[in-house]
Amino acid sequence: MRLKKVLGLTAALMLSLGVSAAQPIDAAPPPSFSVERADRFLSRHKTEIDSRWYPSYHVAAPCGWVNDPNGFAHFDGRFHLFYQHYPYEPKWGPMHWGHVAGDLAHWTRLPVALAPDRAYDIGDTGGCFSGGAIEKDGKLYLIYTGHIESADGSSKREVQNVAFSRDGVRFEKSAKNPVLEVPRRADVSSVDFRDPKVWEHDGSYWLALGSKTNDSPSLGQVLLFQSSDLERWQFKNVMARARGDQGFMWECPGFASIGDRELLIVSPIVKRDGREVHVVNGLLGELDYSTGVFKHGEPQPIDHGFDFYAPQLMQAPDGRCLLIGWLDNWDNEMPEKSDGWAGMMTLPRELSLNNGKIMSTPARELESLRRFGVTYENFSIEKETKLDGIRGSIGELLIDVEPEPNQKFEIKLRASKSEATVLSYDNSTGIFAIDRDRSGKGPGGTREVKLAPSDRLKLRIFLDRSSIEIFLNDGEAVLSNRVYPKAKSDEIVFVSERALKINRVSFYKIADAFE
Ligand code: FRU
Repeated sequence: MRLKKVLGLTAALMLSLGVSAAQPIDAAPPPSFSVERADRFLSRHKTEIDSRWYPSYHVAAPCGWVNDPNGFAHFDGRFHLFYQHYPYEPKWGPMHWGHVAGDLAHWTRLPVALAPDRAYDIGDTGGCFSGGAIEKDGKLYLIYTGHIESADGSSKREVQNVAFSRDGVRFEKSAKNPVLEVPRRADVSSVDFRDPKVWEHDGSYWLALGSKTNDSPSLGQVLLFQSSDLERWQFKNVMARARGDQGFMWECPGFASIGDRELLIVSPIVKRDGREVHVVNGLLGELDYSTGVFKHGEPQPIDHGFDFYAPQLMQAPDGRCLLIGWLDNWDNEMPEKSDGWAGMMTLPRELSLNNGKIMSTPARELESLRRFGVTYENFSIEKETKLDGIRGSIGELLIDVEPEPNQKFEIKLRASKSEATVLSYDNSTGIFAIDRDRSGKGPGGTREVKLAPSDRLKLRIFLDRSSIEIFLNDGEAVLSNRVYPKAKSDEIVFVSERALKINRVSFYKIADAFE
């Protein structure tokens, strides 16, 4: 551990007076990570992965481990997306920031942006944890958490650091790091203090940080800070705090305008049946910048699938509220680890409001990836039906059906004799479900969402080699899921006891997203 254990007299006096004093971080020799070493490793080893489940149009690392998206921003004419990355093994390790840039549909790989190579961003183990990005004075600034941890895990500390770039490719860490340390307050835990989200408002920079209270059990919360230069920060207030069972730690805050409201997204860790689970909630409200308090309504789930966590929210130059999440979750086992890689991003989504409900649709740019397509219109199916040209493990499937009252039906994806991921809809209850008990390797189970009563169901489904993202009714709900079937399980089968009226079914092939 490189934190100074013994405080100087002045610092000790300040602490005893309750004055916030930054503990110095030693300039002890950093570990041997660097962006050059990471890039060399990736280019040497990327061909060694097994690509049977590797995405063709979602962002993933060439090899190694990926978790949260980071620093989703627009700079110099393109979108930039970073992600938590450990290049050397398909498991979590000292965190780097991987980097791609593009137009939300097509992406280019860029060199690793950050490696944990300073005493303020690794300690013995730890790394460059999640954070945000913003443009200032023609430079792209990254603000990230330095997670400083001793080898035996007995000592942990989180500070916020800055790195900047003129070309949006090579980043330099600020000489002023760490730029922000945990405020010493009775209602703020000194341990968990991470995942900064930065934005500009009214001539100031604002930073939302994931945190928890000091109670036992603790309550998750978001802390708000203000700065004029991204390097000197002042604590403003606790912006929002969990109530009841809304999570004992809130990670990865996101903040953006949506319609005429503001949206705070948090990734709470929640205790359920004695287990820790990771969920994602959106809070709609208004931030009072003079008090730093975000007045908001009840949490709304952002995704109803198995695999979704730690999304990044950003305001596009055209005003759209965009979101990208991790298409995985700490609670799942990720069978692709045995193939030399682990973790991928969701497709980018547009969030909007409909009568106070958060709606999610695929980013419109994704239509530019559509290739050859097949469409069937105005027909009905009964029993088990397959349609010529409507099959595949990579593609976009659009379905528009009009079930009769109390009608149930199923759509099987990635199907073969032995495997199927089964979607079902029951018009009497409005319940839409995904069952992955027969989806191949990996965990099974069912996830469901109750839709508003309607005699019509519209599905927009994105299939990639090991993922299925399902958008329902033009944004009413979305379910993000990983599945690990055999490559040849690629049938799409419609199943209904009674005749089911179908307005339209289309299937498009999808082009690769990387050059
Ligand atoms: C969320 C998270 C963040 C942290 C990062 C570390 O998935 O735990 O809070 O910054 O992952 O990789």
